[in-house]
Amino acid sequence: RRLAPLMAMMALVLAACGREDLSTLNPQGPVAEEQFGLMKTAIIIMGIVVVVVFALALYVIIRFRRRSGDKTIPKQVEGSHKLEVIWTVIPIILLVILAVPTLQSVFNLSKDYSNDPDAVKVIVTSHQYWWEFEYPELGIKTAQELVIPTGKTIAIEAKTADVIHSFWVPSLAGKIDTNPSGNENHMYFSAPKEGVYLGKCAELCGPSHGLMDFKVKSVDGAAFDRWAAAIKEPVALPSDPAIAEVFQSKCLVCHAIGDLGVQAYPNLSGIASRNSVGGILVNVEADDKQYKHEDTVYNNLYNWIKDPEAVKPGNLMSNRYELTEDELEGIAQYLSELTLDYE
Ligand code: CUA
Repeated sequence: RRLAPLMAMMALVLAACGREDLSTLNPQGPVAEEQFGLMKTAIIIMGIVVVVVFALALYVIIRFRRRSGDKTIPKQVEGSHKLEVIWTVIPIILLVILAVPTLQSVFNLSKDYSNDPDAVKVIVTSHQYWWEFEYPELGIKTAQELVIPTGKTIAIEAKTADVIHSFWVPSLAGKIDTNPSGNENHMYFSAPKEGVYLGKCAELCGPSHGLMDFKVKSVDGAAFDRWAAAIKEPVALPSDPAIAEVFQSKCLVCHAIGDLGVQAYPNLSGIASRNSVGGILVNVEADDKQYKHEDTVYNNLYNWIKDPEAVKPGNLMSNRYELTEDELEGIAQYLSELTLDYE
């Protein structure tokens, strides 16, 4: 019965390992690989310690057990300088062995690439419960999906608009807190392979903390350039004047698309080409570049706009507007056609 909690814990750990996109044990980039290497070193050292200690304990238990009929009292030992020196020195040696690569990694991973002309600079601003990605050199602001060129170093400057959150892409990079009051944090990472990588908020920040997902999408350099150009292109309002009017008065007072609207809340440019709506209503499978159904995007948008509170409790969009069914469908239809053609 005592093993039950242990078994439960193991099951939990194994279940967590099963989610490859959320596992630090499945590194997909140099930063995550370096961190994984450190974990392996620590686990090997711990493994050796466990094996040696248990072997010694087992040996002592068996070798010096009380045998039947033996009534003598064993030799009484009152401390041993030799032993004490041994069991103090061995851990010190182990800690030094662990400290050297750890410190090396700490320095490697805290390099500041913000002045490197080859790095892509991104200012990450966390909000309850979404992520803003600004590319200051490209004049781009977008949300929820961080598009990056494959193989390039991405220099992140992380800050927050409200409370503390934590930017975390398990398979590519470590995590870094986003702090209020002007304390920007820096980190970098790169993705050598094309793909979509799951990011999460890793700091309890409110009722929708667990839903504060984002994606990092790594595309080849030419596709990245096409994306950077396409996302800035002017966008036409909905063709139906009634929908256009509602969209301007109820959506564009907070959001921006192309050159329209207000750049305060998530930028919607190319929203239909993103991996998900609101960060969590998934439009595509992570490895699948094609939409499974064109309708998925529409349905996700419809559900999100109809009742954001049901999707992401506590978000700022809830209860800000009222739409008729026709308006809701018209806006979801319009947004579901806002694709960016860059892949
Ligand atoms: Cu943001 Cu947790």
